[in-house]
Amino acid sequence: MTTERISRLGHLFRQERLSTEVTDLFREIINDHYRENARILPWRSTFDPYAIYVSEVMLQQTQVERVRVKYEEFLARFPDITTLAGAPLHEVLAVWQGLGYNRRAVLLKKCAETLMERFNGTLPSAAEALETLPGIGHYTARAIAAFAFGAAAPFIETNIRTVFIHLFLPDRDRVHDREILPLVEGTIDHTDPRRWYYALMDYGAHLKRTHVNPSRRSAHHTRQAPFKGSNRELRSRILRAVMAQPGISGAGLADQLDTAITAVIDNLQQMESEGLITLQQGLCRIP
Ligand code: ADE
Repeated sequence: MTTERISRLGHLFRQERLSTEVTDLFREIINDHYRENARILPWRSTFDPYAIYVSEVMLQQTQVERVRVKYEEFLARFPDITTLAGAPLHEVLAVWQGLGYNRRAVLLKKCAETLMERFNGTLPSAAEALETLPGIGHYTARAIAAFAFGAAAPFIETNIRTVFIHLFLPDRDRVHDREILPLVEGTIDHTDPRRWYYALMDYGAHLKRTHVNPSRRSAHHTRQAPFKGSNRELRSRILRAVMAQPGISGAGLADQLDTAITAVIDNLQQMESEGLITLQQGLCRIP
């Protein structure tokens, strides 16, 4: 029984920390679950670093089911780094619609341009090199290194965090990632890091479905604020209006969206600084 194995694991871990017995039992729980319940996800059947990179950017802050559809559509339209680097931003944003957090699309394209300039149009395999690229942070660099190149560097994302808090630190509150990272590192299955991380993520997703989210006990836990009525929603409406009517003015947008001009201008300036739009003589366009 898994419930018994889990309580045994928690008990042993308190006494022995990451002993061989603890590590073996932990891997057994994770791998047994994965053998029966592995999620079939399109980005898991490829080793193309670019496709894996696109999937990881999309999966930040976005549900797997929503990403599934967009991932296929995006890769059909921008199948490689060269195509993405050469495409106009408005085309990239048009495909991105529905995923939200549009700044990610700008960074994805900027990264493709940087790869053309500095890396011969290919993604480097080392996490340290990946991390120097626009929009690639600690997690994404190591996820690409593991999923595309089989590297065994430790990393944490929300599902992985859930697994370690639930199985190793069941009585704790405000758990810091500093405490989790050595546990991730100490339990990595070096024979197949890619498969191991998929298995961890799927177990974490399973825990979230079957328990009150154990990640709420993380010091890093934040809940996504509701979209409706938020400034994020206003930004999205502004972007869609500019895409449909390039050259529209701030006043025109305020009028059309029935929103205070000050809120529109603040957002336009922010969006310009992020590279999402250009503002010339008060007129808005997508680069
Ligand atoms: N498979 C690979 N990366 C993933 C992620 N970030 N979330 C869920 N499944 C994944």
